[in-house]
Amino acid sequence: MNVSDPKPRRLHIVTHGCQMNVYDSARMADVLRPLGYATVDTPEGADMVIMNTCHIRERAADKVFSALGRLRDLKEAGGGGMMIAVTGCVAQAEGEVILKRAPYVDLVVGPQAYHRLPELIAQAHRTRGSVIDTDFPAEQKFDFLPDAAAPQGVIANLTIQEGCDKFCSFCVVPYTRGAEASRPAGSVIAEARRMVALGAREIVLLGQNVNAYHGEGPDGRHWGLARLLEALAEIPGVRRLRYTTSHPADMSDELIAAHGENPALMPFLHLPVQSGSDRMLAAMNRRHKADDFRRIVGRLRDLRPDMAFTSDFIVGHPGETEADFAATMALVRETGFALAYSFKYSPRPGTPAAALPQLDEAVKDARLYELQAELRRQQDAFNAATVGLTTPVLFTGAGRYPGQVAGRSLYAQPVVVESDTDLTGEVRTVTITHANPNSLLGSLQKEKIAA
Ligand code: 5AD
Ligand code: SF4
Repeated sequence: MNVSDPKPRRLHIVTHGCQMNVYDSARMADVLRPLGYATVDTPEGADMVIMNTCHIRERAADKVFSALGRLRDLKEAGGGGMMIAVTGCVAQAEGEVILKRAPYVDLVVGPQAYHRLPELIAQAHRTRGSVIDTDFPAEQKFDFLPDAAAPQGVIANLTIQEGCDKFCSFCVVPYTRGAEASRPAGSVIAEARRMVALGAREIVLLGQNVNAYHGEGPDGRHWGLARLLEALAEIPGVRRLRYTTSHPADMSDELIAAHGENPALMPFLHLPVQSGSDRMLAAMNRRHKADDFRRIVGRLRDLRPDMAFTSDFIVGHPGETEADFAATMALVRETGFALAYSFKYSPRPGTPAAALPQLDEAVKDARLYELQAELRRQQDAFNAATVGLTTPVLFTGAGRYPGQVAGRSLYAQPVVVESDTDLTGEVRTVTITHANPNSLLGSLQKEKIAA
């Protein structure tokens, strides 16, 4: 393939799952751009379609095969020229099975092999057959992905670590994403600087277990997440920092303290707790108790009274009794979440909990319904409580209607205000006037603020 004079090609990427997949999809587009691939919004007429997939729950994985069926029809209608790649965690977990069920797929590429896409595509073209790469190579893909990246806008995601060594009983991540690995701090800082030069003002650090971060620093020492956040806050132009997803057992004293010291760090934390029952937390191999979570929340609220929390919950894990579920409900009521995601336990092949006796579907449904009703009430109450507040908003671009601009609150809530000036990239004070279920309306205050 001639990189210096690439033939223009159309690339369509479908992304399922988490923010890390969104980031990976963007990096795959970066890798393929020098080969002439420009991204398009629909698969019709595309030369290459990448399905970047999620394996976290059964329903997510099932979606892949129904979507692939639709792509096969498009491929056949176009004379077979369209190349189809399956990437992400389903590619890693299912490998050969994908080619058995969907032989028209050309490439199956695991999350650690994206930097090798150009060579894998060339190989598929050469052999006119299917190519699989689901190895966990010794090198880190970040060292081989190109620096040049398409701008993400005012809010930019930056993956700083991948993989997980925790092996929670229910979770496929340690198997699909491999062992925990942190990027060197210098490479993260360099990428953050490039993002700021391209217009980013808020940087969201991503990792499956982001607060386990322990990258090598420019001083040769291991840096924890708190130290990295400190260095990132010093980059001129960085106004806001967030990180996701964290594990309670990795909330170090330094990281908790950073929430009181680092002015760029938002008073908002996604901290999955999964259950409020110590018995279940032990069965889930979570390595912490419900009171550890309560203590972390309490310490952070002491440091920042405006701190708000989001979380993840699983109901119906094998062995969960009514009393265990009641403990979860008690923890939820006591904590008060800004928002939380809750899921019915979904057995994942190869994980320890999948081999245990399973709960009745109807019991799981009833518990999920009760939990989600409470979480919805809390989310509505949290949004309603912002009405009347005067608070900084980072503007990200135009609103949906003319004369509107849109941004994000400290808690990442979408905020819309009326303004004829483009405020993109600026932090301005806004008084919140109305709360919709998923966004806030506000009016712009005159003075410009520094924080
Ligand atoms: N079943 C249901 N939910 C799961 N999660 C992870 N694995 C499973 C599973 N097997 C949830 C957890 C995790 C979130 C990303 O997905 O709550 O925090
Ligand atoms: Fe999965 Fe998170 Fe547990 Fe790791 S810590 S195994 S990513 S749920």
